Amino acid sequence: MKQRLFAFAFLVSFYLQAQEPAIIPKPSRLEMLDGNFSITPATQIVTAGAGVEKAAMFLNDYLQKFYGFRLNVSKTAAAKNSIALTLAKKAGDVDGAYHLLVTRTGVQITGDNATGTFYGVQSLLQLLPVEKKRELIIPALEIDDQPRFAYRGMHLDVGRHFYPVDFVKKFIDYIALHKMNTFHWHLTEDQGWRIEIKKYPKLTQVGAYRNGTIIGHHPGTGNDQTKYGGYYTQEQVKEIVKYASDRFITVIPEIEMPGHASAAIAAYPELSAFPDEATKHPAKVTWFGDSTGKQVQQGWGIYPDVFAPTEYTFKFLENVLDEVIQLFPSTYIHIGGDECPKENWKRSAFCQQLIKEKGLKDEHDLQSYFIQRIEKYLNGKGRQIIGWDEILEGGLAPNATVMSWRGEKGGIEAARQKHNVIMTPNSYVYFDYGQNKKEDSLVIGGYLTVQKVYGYEPVPAALPAENTKYILGAQANVWSEYMKTPSKVEYMIFPRMTALSEVLWSRKESRNWPDFEKRMEQQTKRYALWNTSYNSKYLDPLNK
Ligand code: ACM
Repeated sequence: MKQRLFAFAFLVSFYLQAQEPAIIPKPSRLEMLDGNFSITPATQIVTAGAGVEKAAMFLNDYLQKFYGFRLNVSKTAAAKNSIALTLAKKAGDVDGAYHLLVTRTGVQITGDNATGTFYGVQSLLQLLPVEKKRELIIPALEIDDQPRFAYRGMHLDVGRHFYPVDFVKKFIDYIALHKMNTFHWHLTEDQGWRIEIKKYPKLTQVGAYRNGTIIGHHPGTGNDQTKYGGYYTQEQVKEIVKYASDRFITVIPEIEMPGHASAAIAAYPELSAFPDEATKHPAKVTWFGDSTGKQVQQGWGIYPDVFAPTEYTFKFLENVLDEVIQLFPSTYIHIGGDECPKENWKRSAFCQQLIKEKGLKDEHDLQSYFIQRIEKYLNGKGRQIIGWDEILEGGLAPNATVMSWRGEKGGIEAARQKHNVIMTPNSYVYFDYGQNKKEDSLVIGGYLTVQKVYGYEPVPAALPAENTKYILGAQANVWSEYMKTPSKVEYMIFPRMTALSEVLWSRKESRNWPDFEKRMEQQTKRYALWNTSYNSKYLDPLNK
């Protein structure tokens, strides 16, 4: 009997050693060692170094949430049964490098800085079993790891649909768990203005609500006739920015201009070139409620009523941005710049006169003038702008970073012009696109499989070698027209976000689809542990 037990224990330990853990994104170097270590409620976390307590907090919150216990945190080194979170400068300057060592007596995570220690904890979490237990056996191993790209982002549109603070925090946790570092928060849209601005209370009193929403695919088959909306107070924004910062995530706010401005115009009609004209919408959109004057849009798409480039508008935007930069410490402020129809500017005597006065060629030049004025204002406050790739039209603002979304073209052009670029091409990273050929829920369209996301290479092949340094990284965009609930958002981002995390973090040479697919088996169990929706049919051949 004893012998059989021994053989069984040997087999179990052999199994634990032989199985390389399914860490995503794949670390730069991973070596399995002999034996294993048990994390139990008696294990201690020992911290040394500025900022590592954030990693301890995240680890403890995760253990509490998914395994039902927390560990003591101490600053005194323990000989054994401890998880040591420390710092040691590494060669090179990649932000977020770490070393993780698991032996029979404990765990040691050493970050190049506190960000690195935090990422080391993320890898540790992926060693844990995916069922709730009080003894968490993890294999002995050694990892050296560091990120490939400096910018690893996720965007969330809260304009089309509004998500509660708790879900925004959950979304930020997902970013952290994937070793990503930027949350691009798309806060203003035609269908809703979502951030409290004290100087302009009507932005949220009026602009945060629409009287109804179309049913089905735009332009819709009817209207749900239900008032819809919501916004984040400045206190909530501060709470979210702090929550992100505790996870080494920068929040970049987006205040859209000059297009996608219907909600702001509904609140302050003087922002339009035609303040007295009623809001227009496609004839096929079934409208509900008041249709006089300026209204928050009820359908999706693009609308012609955009900000007029008047002194009133510039003062308004400067005042709004003054409050925004108080709330967001990020260097970057996203100012939108996409999908701005020029028809109102074409028929506005004021705009035409301004074009003449400023010696501009056309309305595209006028948009460039608009963006450059805003850039100058923000640069004067020590901030930099990011804009969608339309800001290339009419000439780039001198210091602007470009977000390339209409494929890779804009990114290539901007990098050629020696501007920083964040790649978000719709063909690879638009997570509002369908995941399966035969979709099982309403989506905007498109067809973007997890395998295609995994195969994405952020540095465009067409870019000359000397310009590749301008590609800071990439980001997936989550436009929410067809995502009414948090669970739909989760369904659309998983597992595609998991694939993107590896594209952004891991060495290019280590990318290997069959190996990733294998590691995904464990990852789907983690989704289940997190009680997260995901597209479980992502490999279903019938849907390919
Ligand atoms: C965009 O998708 N309109 C940036």
